[in-house]
Amino acid sequence: MIKTGSEDISMGKISVPVYNDYCPQTLFLYGTYDENGNADFGLFCWFSYTYDGQMGVMCCIGGEKGTKSNIHRTGIFSANIVTEALLPSADYLGNNKGFDPSKVDFTVGKGVVLDVPVVEESPVVFELEVKQFIPLDGGEVMLCNIRNVLQDESLASCDETVADKLTRIAPVKTTCHSYFGFKGDYKGAWGEPMKGLSTSSSN
Ligand SMILES: Cc1cc2nc3c(=O)[nH]c(=O)nc-3n(C[C@H](O)[C@H](O)[C@H](O)COP(=O)(O)O)c2cc1C
Repeated sequence: MIKTGSEDISMGKISVPVYNDYCPQTLFLYGTYDENGNADFGLFCWFSYTYDGQMGVMCCIGGEKGTKSNIHRTGIFSANIVTEALLPSADYLGNNKGFDPSKVDFTVGKGVVLDVPVVEESPVVFELEVKQFIPLDGGEVMLCNIRNVLQDESLASCDETVADKLTRIAPVKTTCHSYFGFKGDYKGAWGEPMKGLSTSSSN
């Protein structure tokens, strides 16, 4: 029980099926090149950080995916933070395999240190090199060296607080098969934001 002045709030817990509901995760678009040298982007949230003398990234890809086979072939990829402005395109890429640039509303650029495609409109981009693949039972964990971090110049400004910068770039979170804006506002269930794309809703 927590005492809050006049009332007691019950804090009983129940066991639920294994899942990560109510644990918000940051979204990233992973950029790779396919075997023909064409850019490919997929949406991912099983992404976090490691520390082993220097900061690294760990991520998990479940099952067979184009993104996974591209990373296996090249050993490198970009992770582009998803903002509210990028959400319709990101949602589309999370619900459709492969990549057709005419179906999304962002610009594909190039990494600075690694030969990886990046999302020009994403304010924070990691250029990643896999140092260890850990195959599981169909899924795979990848431990990555961060070879470069590309950030919008405006994030280096001292004229704006960190809170104001985050509010401005507005990274999206996901949990419970739903998207939430930086301030916690509901942005739709998985599969909904992409309906706002003029080009993709019919797919
Ligand atoms: C919100 C959201 C988050 C996702 N996160 C992951 C993830 O972390 N790992 C994963 O394997 N798939 C994840 N997916 C599924 C991939 O985005 C999906 O399989 C996509 O088609 C992969 O693109 P590709 O087939 O071009 O590689 C996610 C999907 C959504 C909608």
